[in-house]
Amino acid sequence: MGRMRVAVMASGGGTNLQKLLEAFPAGDDSDAPARVVLVVTDRPGVGALERAERAGVHTEVVPPSDYPDQISFGDKLNDLFAGAGVELVVLAGYLKMVPTNVVSAYSNRMINIHPALLPSFGGKGMYGRRVHEAVIASGAKVSGPTVHFVNEEYDRGLIIAQSAVPVYHDDTPEVLASRVLEQEHELLPLVVELIASGKVEVEGGRVKVART
Ligand code: GRF
Repeated sequence: MGRMRVAVMASGGGTNLQKLLEAFPAGDDSDAPARVVLVVTDRPGVGALERAERAGVHTEVVPPSDYPDQISFGDKLNDLFAGAGVELVVLAGYLKMVPTNVVSAYSNRMINIHPALLPSFGGKGMYGRRVHEAVIASGAKVSGPTVHFVNEEYDRGLIIAQSAVPVYHDDTPEVLASRVLEQEHELLPLVVELIASGKVEVEGGRVKVART
């Protein structure tokens, strides 16, 4: 099969997107199993857009507030994804809720990366600095990123992969965030590679990842 066509949704600086652009270039000369064909942000002027433009990847800014309701916002996203032949949607630091008509259209074909070990320290409003504040406040000794399939419940989709980093007693949220982000940059491209290589399957509500 051809290289899996990937859309990335982002809201901010796009360092996770950058790693995906490097691992899965748009050009035809790459033999990577996937290619990023579209980057969608919810607002203009963010680093993710510059990174996509520099990589020669088509970008679309789709502010949810431009639409009267979630479903019409979702219809717009679905039209964009269908138009680009998107087979996998990756939420990489995307901060808005994904409409249910998009989640259902991409069931088990939409993934998100969360900067903590779900199901702990997740859910509505748990993003950015406050995730790491909660981890530190809890006294947990490990943290790390989770990549999971997206379903209707925030941060509750089936977990695909995680990796752990230590939490030190004198960690600040910023220091922990950067330690976790380093791991995100490894984990997200790895999971996209596994999915594009047909090594991830969902069976009976369980995620099976082939042992590489
Ligand atoms: C980071 O905070 C990361 O933990 C989470 O969303 C943010 C993405 O950062 N996934 P970036 O825009 O990819 O740099």
